[in-house]
Amino acid sequence: MGDVAKLIVDGKEHELQIVKGSEGERAVVTSRLRETAGLITLDPALMSTGSCQSAITFIDGEKGVLRYRGIPIQEFRESPNFIEVAYLLIFGKLPNQAEYDDFSARLTSNAMLHEAMRHHFEGFPVDAPPMAILSAMLNTLSCFHVEFLKGLDDPEVFTEAAARLISKVRTIAAFTYRRSRGLPFMYPDPKLRYCANFLHMMFSSPYQQYEVRTAVEDALNLLLILHADHEQNCSTSTVRLVGSAHANLFASCAAGVCALWGRLHGGANVEVLEMLERIHKGGLTPEKCVEMAKDKKDPFKLSGFGHRVYKNYDPRARIIKESCDRVLTAMGRKDPLLDIARKLEEIVLADSYFVERRLYPNVDFYSGIILRALGIPTNMFTVMFAIGRLPGWIAHWKEQHDDKTSKIWRPRQLYTGNTLSRYVPIQKRD
Ligand code: ACO
Repeated sequence: MGDVAKLIVDGKEHELQIVKGSEGERAVVTSRLRETAGLITLDPALMSTGSCQSAITFIDGEKGVLRYRGIPIQEFRESPNFIEVAYLLIFGKLPNQAEYDDFSARLTSNAMLHEAMRHHFEGFPVDAPPMAILSAMLNTLSCFHVEFLKGLDDPEVFTEAAARLISKVRTIAAFTYRRSRGLPFMYPDPKLRYCANFLHMMFSSPYQQYEVRTAVEDALNLLLILHADHEQNCSTSTVRLVGSAHANLFASCAAGVCALWGRLHGGANVEVLEMLERIHKGGLTPEKCVEMAKDKKDPFKLSGFGHRVYKNYDPRARIIKESCDRVLTAMGRKDPLLDIARKLEEIVLADSYFVERRLYPNVDFYSGIILRALGIPTNMFTVMFAIGRLPGWIAHWKEQHDDKTSKIWRPRQLYTGNTLSRYVPIQKRD
């Protein structure tokens, strides 16, 4: 028998098994506690609760370590290729040439949207939030590709469904942007690679093809890679929760988009940019931002700082920060918001409030600077995060789906409401 923890309740001892992860982390298994001891564990916001075992991504938040299938995130920095990483996360290994070519070909052949689906965009108001459109349209894929609602145990069917989703999300995102600007939709170009094709659909015009520079394509690949997975974060847990009911892949990922939209999660990148812009326009100073963030009576939080898991510098933020300079130089641009962001970081990292709470920049703090340099408007930032995170969601959906012992998620609660009460007819109520 392996390690056990002992829990003594009302003088009775209960043994709880301890399981170990491949990096030595330990977890007490409490899933049978209700049955054996009549108790549930109470952990609001799941601060110390593992919801599953997973072999996809490893994070050591104390040391600022992030690895995809064992590979440190830093190794994807040179010649970044988002599709390789997507394959790695979903299928558990880097693709060989034949696998890569096959998956790329599937992405290319699935890039178009059904024409009837294209018309859906016209039904949305031009100022509709892009994340609402993205979630609705991912769910709409369930209507147009009913052949993928079942049968994903078959590797061929699953691979095709995953490729369809990864390919179409970028077309949906680009069409969302074009709709908001009243611009004609640009169809995907089968000659272009994943990121270049996205940029073409965003920025080409019927008269002129957008010229994709290598530095820009690399920057976008890197940005998507850095967002590709982050183990059991809010949106990924949502995808797993929804998927646990055997909801289809499209519906589960659409739910992930809704969770990601929140400003404490992926929506933080929009808040960061708006804050930096306010400072730039003179409406706020970095010092005032920090003061507001520290004031417990003020609901303002310094977006782009802090993380549930990282109690050290988020390694993704470090890579993005370095990449900002490279992209801006390659594009021959200077961005005053980068200087403001650096200044803000300097103040924050020297402030005892943030030091004591171990609050460092997270992935959202510098990502907006790169997105701006690429010409992506602020209200599309979280959509870009979703394009990046999609392979992670799919990988987690598959991992759970493939585990035939997995059950529907159904947490318990500690009821704190009225005890037994009586119905009173309306005429007799106070
Ligand atoms: N600004 C000011 N204070 C903060 C911040 C912040 N950005 N983040 C945390 N704190 C404070 C909290 O008020 C709390 O203080 P207290 O101990 O005096 O009560 C302490 O630090 C601990 O923070 P919690 O909110 O308990 O940490 P939690 O793990 O629940 O939240 C979160 C993490 C949501 C990311 C939080 O740090 C935050 O709101 N950050 C800003 C939003 C943001 O950048 N989100 C993106 C996260 S990365 C991602 O999802 C991709």
